[in-house]
Amino acid sequence: EKKGGPVINTQQLIGDDLKDLKNNIMNLLGSGHPMLDTVSKYYFQADGKHIRPMIILLIGLATSKAPKRVHVQVKDSYEEIDTPISELGNFHIPTLNATSDASTSTAPTPVNSIYLPKFRKEDQTYILPSQRRLGEIVEMIHTSSLLHDDVIDAADTRRNLVSANENFGNKMAILGGDFLLARASIALARLRNQEVTELMSTVIANLVEGEFMQLRNGQVENGRSKTMTTFEYYMEKSYMKTASLISKSCRASAVLGGATNEVCDIAYTYGKNLGLAFQLVDDMLDFTVSSEEFGKPAGADLKLGLATAPVLFAWEEFPELGKLIKRNFNQEGDVETAWKLVLKSQGLEQTRRLAQIHCQRAIAAVNQLPDSQAKTALIQLTEKVLDRKN
Ligand code: FPP
Ligand code: MG
Ligand code: MG
Repeated sequence: EKKGGPVINTQQLIGDDLKDLKNNIMNLLGSGHPMLDTVSKYYFQADGKHIRPMIILLIGLATSKAPKRVHVQVKDSYEEIDTPISELGNFHIPTLNATSDASTSTAPTPVNSIYLPKFRKEDQTYILPSQRRLGEIVEMIHTSSLLHDDVIDAADTRRNLVSANENFGNKMAILGGDFLLARASIALARLRNQEVTELMSTVIANLVEGEFMQLRNGQVENGRSKTMTTFEYYMEKSYMKTASLISKSCRASAVLGGATNEVCDIAYTYGKNLGLAFQLVDDMLDFTVSSEEFGKPAGADLKLGLATAPVLFAWEEFPELGKLIKRNFNQEGDVETAWKLVLKSQGLEQTRRLAQIHCQRAIAAVNQLPDSQAKTALIQLTEKVLDRKN
């Protein structure tokens, strides 16, 4: 028994909704060209953690009993109002047969209206087919960014596999990533939800912005704001490359469920803080675990010239780190010196503590939702993010 009640068996809760994820993605990826097929599907053969789809489904469940926004037809036009779920029966609601797949349906979606699930018993929670599809789309966007990232980082392993760039070469890895992204975009368009399309398209832009900020690492004067400190720049970069995807897909999941704006904001805040914690822990693990445990090269960030949270905190204790950070650890012995100073400093502990603060904010957000097993699972997920070893 943990604080916040007994440990939720996430597998039991959403396992059925997750079990076809990989298969469905494979179906979205079929290409007439066998090699393109192989490259774009390559990273899916390893057992990913599917943490993003998991979060999206849990948000779907946890928000399913929260207040819904409803479009009510008023004199030929639609007006958007927020209403508690108990009053939904009073309105005409366009229904979606929850057992049919919204994302493969060819029926046109009326502009300015949203599909709500066919109402079942009020105390019942549910995941929509469109939310399952969103999980698949997000896993595809994420994986496409990894294909590109491994080219940029010249990584030789990923998920304990030889990296795609190493296996197929940079050109095919890039094109495989592009293809994945294109197919994800088609699936996104087929959700026929403008708000969700806009959210997820912004995510793709943010991923590139985050990666670009990292490319210009330390060169803050070229960043968006001249007044940003190095640490603020690092946090913004972390939002762009990691937390944007999680936060905006949490919001999108709530949007697909027809949740009110307030509930969508809660989903967003949960995802944003969980995502930031996730990246902080990732940057900590780069110093503390071996490559085998990590499934990707450990100790890679310094070698890539990157100053992440542990180094930036250590810099406060050891000012001599400043010049190494500025020159991106590019002189002989820089990486080793920085490595030793980070381990000697409080940097790793401070990084963990900051991750913890973001987890607490995530919990505070999600706690505003009605009680449910999914909500408890989302809370317990924050502990898993803090304690993860890979
Ligand atoms: C992993 O970071 C990389 C990302 C989270 C995003 C990468 C984004 C791009 C390459 C921009 C292009 C985007 C698309 C959608 C095609 P990391 O290198 O710190 O983590 P790692 O240790 O897992 O490699
Ligand atoms: Mg990388
Ligand atoms: Mg990278």
